Amino acid sequence: MEKQWTCKEDILCGLNEPKDKGNLIDLEKKHIPVIDAPETVKKDDTFEVKVEVGKLLAHPNEPGHFIEWVELYSGDTFLGRVHYNGGTSYPNATFKVKISHSHGPLKAWGKCNLHGLWEGTKEISVR
Ligand SMILES: [Fe+2]
Repeated sequence: MEKQWTCKEDILCGLNEPKDKGNLIDLEKKHIPVIDAPETVKKDDTFEVKVEVGKLLAHPNEPGHFIEWVELYSGDTFLGRVHYNGGTSYPNATFKVKISHSHGPLKAWGKCNLHGLWEGTKEISVR
């Protein structure tokens, strides 16, 4: 279902998503956060979730153009946030998390100072 609050014609309005998930353009490859996590986790066990922006195609990392922050969610439940400083730190974070029940897929949001907000997701099962 299409989100009603996203303006498709304005990259700085709302959440940017790939137009065609099977055929990403360079702008999408540079900005979509890639999540690396187990497909199945045990209820209340700690596990690692790695989130990287620029894994598919390097994103610039300089004072005028950089990834400002990355957030991680389980469904719509907030898990953590990491801030970056253009040119001196890279948008590549490892979160240690535990979840007691499924909230939906893992979701990472990454914010570019020039190109707005981007989302990456990964299905996860809690048993
Ligand atoms: Fe960018």
